[in-house]
Amino acid sequence: MSELDVAPLAELRRRRSAKWRTFPDDVLPLFVAEMDYGLAPPVTAALTEAVRRGDMGYPASTPELGKALAGFAGRQWGWEIDPGRVTAVTDVGVGVVELLRALTRPGDPVVISPPVYSPFFDWVPETRGRIVEVPLTRDDSGYRLDLAALEAAFATHPAAYVLCNPHNPVGRVHTAGELAELVRLARLYRVPVISDEIHAPLTLPGAVFTPLLTVPGAAEVAVSVVSASKAFNLAGLKCAAVVTAGSRMAEVVSRFPADPDDRVGHLGVLASIAAFTEGDAWLADLLSTLAGRRSQLGDLLRDHLPQLSWTPPEATYLAWLDASVLGRDAEPRDHFLTKGRVALEAGTRYGAVGSGYVRLNFATSPEILTDAVTRMAATMP
Ligand SMILES: Cc1ncc(COP(=O)(O)O)c(C=O)c1O
Repeated sequence: MSELDVAPLAELRRRRSAKWRTFPDDVLPLFVAEMDYGLAPPVTAALTEAVRRGDMGYPASTPELGKALAGFAGRQWGWEIDPGRVTAVTDVGVGVVELLRALTRPGDPVVISPPVYSPFFDWVPETRGRIVEVPLTRDDSGYRLDLAALEAAFATHPAAYVLCNPHNPVGRVHTAGELAELVRLARLYRVPVISDEIHAPLTLPGAVFTPLLTVPGAAEVAVSVVSASKAFNLAGLKCAAVVTAGSRMAEVVSRFPADPDDRVGHLGVLASIAAFTEGDAWLADLLSTLAGRRSQLGDLLRDHLPQLSWTPPEATYLAWLDASVLGRDAEPRDHFLTKGRVALEAGTRYGAVGSGYVRLNFATSPEILTDAVTRMAATMP
């Protein structure tokens, strides 16, 4: 296993993506979920080859994308996917929105579990649904699904539940037992579950990811949305996939308005196929690199910023930091940006329960991470 390199800061600043173009150069950007590592070599090769050939036309995702994803899911998680039940979509957001459109009518309640990825709060109203919040529950070992509260919500027959598995921003990998209970409830109360599994390949050493569709009985009630984009840093290329395993959910997908796979990025399809078929070795290096940054962050917080508390994430490269020590009136994200020149995400973006928190992206170099925490520590009253 080898540690992935990060280019010097001056070189990173030449990138033109949101991470590097949102703030001035004196700010360290640890906010949006983009990584600072280079691309996996098979992805670079596929994209370079496409440029060399002038291969920039419309996408043709079938059947290669489904086959590549099925191979990856089988090797990584023992998840048997039928490539014929894989539908390419522009991105995970589009996949979830189209599923909500197909599953709900205007005004229907849709359940989500904050603190959760902020666009969940946009996707539901975009399809004219009504958000019902069933927050995660929390104890000393961290956050988990509140299955009792979910049962109470499911008993009111919402039109859908949108699950984040693994869960951004808290980094929780829901256990097979928790997901089995979720599926039992979904079947009992007939609530379709949309499982956003974009962070699944970023499950870190020590945790085991369970694809929702591998849970017995899930095929009838659940649909999964996956992508290579988070783990392989391909968000700008626009390619994700909706996966079903039963006829009822396949029928829901068949009601998508237009041929959704025509709206996918061709380069995204090519890069995703390369990642899924040839990316395992690079991904293993990424996960061990991220595990190193996670433990480095723990050391840095302990030594320099003990006022902030956290539970190290089981997946993702995102740290959910409790900065409520700054006081009720402070917005910690603004505090660290203004006083420390470190850009983080505000916890309130993930729901009101995120008040007092910030989300920090640690997919960077040891040096940048040290600089960021040192800057943050220097701002503490
Ligand atoms: C849980 C979750 N879902 C979806 C996305 C966005 O995916 P996409 O860019 O494919 O819409 C992210 C991005 O970080 C995410 O964390």
